[in-house]
Order: sequence, then structure tokens, then C-alpha cells
Amino acid sequence: MSRTEFIATGFHVPERVVTNDDLARMMDTSDEWIVQRSGIKTRHWVSEGETGVTLARQAALQALAKAGMKPGELDCIVYCTCTPDHFEPGNGVFLQRELGVRDIPALDVRNQCSGFIYGLSVADAWIKSGQYRRVLLVGAEVHSRGLDKTTRGRDTAVLFGDGAGAVILGPTDEDSRGILSTHLYADGRHAEKLWVDAPGLAHDPYISEELLAQGKHRAVMEGKEVFKYASVLMPQSVATALKANGLTPADITLLVPHQANLRIIEMVQKSVGLRDDQVYANIEKYGNTTAASIPIALHEALCEGRLKRGDVLVLTAFGSGFTWASAAVRW
Ligand code: COA
Repeated sequence: MSRTEFIATGFHVPERVVTNDDLARMMDTSDEWIVQRSGIKTRHWVSEGETGVTLARQAALQALAKAGMKPGELDCIVYCTCTPDHFEPGNGVFLQRELGVRDIPALDVRNQCSGFIYGLSVADAWIKSGQYRRVLLVGAEVHSRGLDKTTRGRDTAVLFGDGAGAVILGPTDEDSRGILSTHLYADGRHAEKLWVDAPGLAHDPYISEELLAQGKHRAVMEGKEVFKYASVLMPQSVATALKANGLTPADITLLVPHQANLRIIEMVQKSVGLRDDQVYANIEKYGNTTAASIPIALHEALCEGRLKRGDVLVLTAFGSGFTWASAAVRW
């Protein structure tokens, strides 16, 4: 059976850069507070006319160009987002249309910050089974339009940003490289610790003035709980990935963790026992872009020459659900 390899990557973030000082003009916060707690200095926000799908399209076109492929050569689209343009249909079909492709399947993955690794796991299984050969896997988010940009929402509003990352995956016959493993986890007992309650069909009517007035359409988070679980479960998922492949922390060339918070990334690094050069972080520039954060970070790491043939790449993510996941890749 063949393995799945990364053929190319791409990413796109909106042009508009929002600094911590910009946020301090909208709500009671400060650059010092944000940098100290999260490591974030800037994030990108969409402007009029931009949507998750327009960001995803740019990222996908960049990855396709790098792969030397035309959209028509794709067999399947997997689109990971927790901030879809519309309630239904999912963003996958809109991206398919934007790429000028028809008939190929477009799957939407709704697993928040773990979405990219969940999507990767599905794409990997399809490719290994021979069902699809060329899969476009996208993580794209527009958080800025959903954030409560007043002091009431400051604990989450300062953390999230917009952006898209894309990868093209395909089969390789070389046993020695490609995706070695994926491990996915969820624990629904914590579903309300980071969630957006409405609009949702648990409510009747599913959207109302009352729900809006209560701020139920905003992401709410028990930050300390998220921090506590992420700092334990992300390292655990890395340990599982290593053990499954007979690897040790010293074998990791690069860990690309979901970029939720620099403090969490530092905890993961310490807990796994990695040097600075083994861990990639770019949260400073983009904030938390949920499903987009890993493909954006991976793309930038590749552009900086941080991975070469034969290197071991490990991905790990944690987020709302709670869901968490890891993947090990021989580059
Ligand atoms: N600016 C200034 N002050 C803020 C603030 C902001 N943006 N957000 C919250 N505060 C205030 C709080 O109101 C609180 O004030 P009080 O002590 O007067 O009540 C104080 O800062 C401390 O808040 P607290 O919630 O205890 O801070 P914290 O140390 O837990 O840090 C997070 C908050 C959100 C940065 C932290 O919990 C965290 O990083 N959690 C994980 C978040 C995450 O990564 N989510 C995505 C996962 S995928």
C-alpha cells in the first residue's frame, strides 16, 4: 500500500493587519497584556468583499501552482473550517465552484482547531485506499466578523485571526516517506468550554433578537480550562505519534503545533523535551487561525528551509470540543 505525501503547500492572509494597539482602541486591553498571555503581536482581518472562500481560493491556487497542477486535476476537496461563509451548504462546494471544477466531492470538516489534522487523516485514508489520488486539503477561517470587539469579548477577541492554508496530497510508492500516522481524539464533556451557541437548531427559533442580545453568536471560552487541557493533551498526542512509529523526541526535526497561544506552545515544547529549533511558531504574526494555523505554519516553515527530505515532521492540535490530534510525517 502506498503512503500519502505532501506535494505542495500554499497560504493566504488578508492584507489588513490589526495590531494590539489597534485592539486597545476598540476595547479595554493592552499590547503588554496580549503579548504576555499569548505571544500575539498582530493578526490579519478580512476587508469588505473577502470571505473564507476567497482566502481559501488564493491559498489553493498557490498550492496548485507550486504543484504544477490545474484545478481540474484534483480528485477531491476537503475543507476544514469552523467559520463557514453560510449555514449551508458548506464552504467546500463554494471553493470547488471558485476553482472552476465540477463533480469532484467536496467534504466539509467541522473540528475547529483540530480540523486540519482531522481532514488530513481522512484524506490520508482515501489516498492510501486508492479512492482518490490528488486531494486539496484546506483550512480557512474568518474569525474577525464573529468576534465581540468590545471589552465584553476581549478574552477571545484578542486571540483569533483570519487566514487560509492549503496543501495538495497524493500517493507515493516510496515506503520511507509520507504520512506515518494520524491520531484523532475528542471529549464532548467539554463541548461548552469553547463554543458558539447560536445560531443553532437547538434553539427555536434558531436565531432571534434575544439570542443576539445575549451574545450567544459569539465564541465564549473558559480560557484557563482550555489552557490546562491543551498543555497536557497536545504533548500526550505527540508522545502517541512518536511511540506508534518507534521514534523519540530527539528524532523530531520539526514540531508544527496548532498556533493557539505561545504559552501553550512553550508548555508543549517543555513537556515533550524539545529544543527551540525543533518547534515552529508564527502565532506572533497571525494569532489563532484555528484550522488554518497548521497549514500556514507548515508553509512558512518550508519557505524558511526548516524541512528537508527524510526529516521527521510532527503536527499536533487541540481545540473546541474538546478535540485534539497528532500526525507524524517522514518528509
Ligand atoms: N486584555 C486585558 N485584560 C483581559 C483581557 C484582555 N484582552 N482578557 C481578559 N482580561 C482580564 C480578565 O478580565 C481578568 O481580569 P480580573 O482579574 O480583573 O477578573 C484578567 O485579565 C485575568 O484573566 P484570566 O482569564 O485569569 O487570564 P488568563 O491568565 O487565564 O489568560 C487567556 C487568559 C485567554 C490568555 C488564557 O486563559 C489562555 O490562553 N487560554 C487558552 C486560550 C486558547 O488558546 N484558546 C484557543 C484554543 S484552540
